[in-house]
Amino acid sequence: QQFRYFSQTQSLNRIENVMIIGSGLMGSGVAQSCATSGRFNSITLQDVSQEQLDKARKRIHQSLAKLKEQKRINIDDAEAVTNRITFNTQIKPVDDKNLLIIEAIPELMEAKQKLFKDLCEQFKSNDSIGKHVTCKERYGGLHFFNPVPLMKLVEIVRTENGTNDKTFEDLQQFVKDIEKVGVASKDTPGFIVNRLLVPYMQEAVRMLERGDATASDIDTAMKLGAGYPMGPFELMDFVGLDTNQFIVDAWQKRNDPNLTIYRSKTIDEMVKRGELGRKTGKGFYDYS
Ligand code: CAA
Ligand code: NAD
Repeated sequence: QQFRYFSQTQSLNRIENVMIIGSGLMGSGVAQSCATSGRFNSITLQDVSQEQLDKARKRIHQSLAKLKEQKRINIDDAEAVTNRITFNTQIKPVDDKNLLIIEAIPELMEAKQKLFKDLCEQFKSNDSIGKHVTCKERYGGLHFFNPVPLMKLVEIVRTENGTNDKTFEDLQQFVKDIEKVGVASKDTPGFIVNRLLVPYMQEAVRMLERGDATASDIDTAMKLGAGYPMGPFELMDFVGLDTNQFIVDAWQKRNDPNLTIYRSKTIDEMVKRGELGRKTGKGFYDYS
């Protein structure tokens, strides 16, 4: 459930170019936030699927137009801001000087590992600082929240014996540049937010399975009784039930007694039926 980041910035220079890999819900949101800030020379959004890239362009344009209409962002023209992003099926940034690469592909360990291996080979550092560091030192975590254009937080993760100070500072500056607030977290399962939020969502499903209350009453209770903007079922539909399942699977595989999590049959069955939440039109609620 985390974004991994890989940069090749030179000493004392700020990140000037960004490439985001994976143009789904999260990657498109990150590209949009970078474009809105107007601070980068180039933004490349890459995906293996042209269809996904076309969808991402449309989603970004619509979101910018809506946020402009609601006066939540200060931009002149949604089309011009969208045009700051180059959409590409190749891993080929417009410019690789002081480049930050953000990975946002699905939560599949092998696919992520292969991608990073390829990136380390393709983007060997050629600056004087880079000569002395390994790929690991230029690598850290950036964890964004959905919907990225509206959520202010980014967890910045320093990997153990990995991320060096320069990389961590670059990341902190990048987060400020896109007008978000960074918090530092160790590289632990779920970092800060998901470590608390995912067990909470899973417990809500257990409550539903026990028949204690309906999904809609649990949602109302948490919104009006605890001040949450969305109830747990609305939130699961929003995040995607598959994403929740990926996280629970990964935590269970760790077999860590400090990381207990409820695994729900209801979610497994819904995922099998393709009821993943808003993105498929049906989850705990119907969106069709
Ligand atoms: N761009 C533009 N508008 C967007 C948008 C986007 N990307 N995403 C949602 N919106 C719009 C909605 O379409 C809606 O507009 P309409 O009602 O006109 O359709 C509008 O935002 C909602 O506006 P509201 O004024 O009703 O609500 P709000 O602005 O006060 O709050 C919210 C919206 C920020 C999504 C709020 O409901 C919220 O904070 N929800 C909880 C989100 C959350 O917890 N996210 C974290 C999930 S966990 C995670 O991301 C980590 C992980 O690894 C799984
Ligand atoms: P998504 O399914 O919406 O998008 C993933 C995209 O990656 C798709 O467009 C797919 O075509 C593309 N892709 C797959 N393999 C690829 C590859 N090898 N190279 C390039 N593109 C590839 O997923 P998402 O919800 O955007 O999640 C992405 C990551 O962000 C996951 O690790 C997830 O756990 C994490 N995350 C998700 C949320 C959320 O609320 N959905 C919140 C925070 C973090």
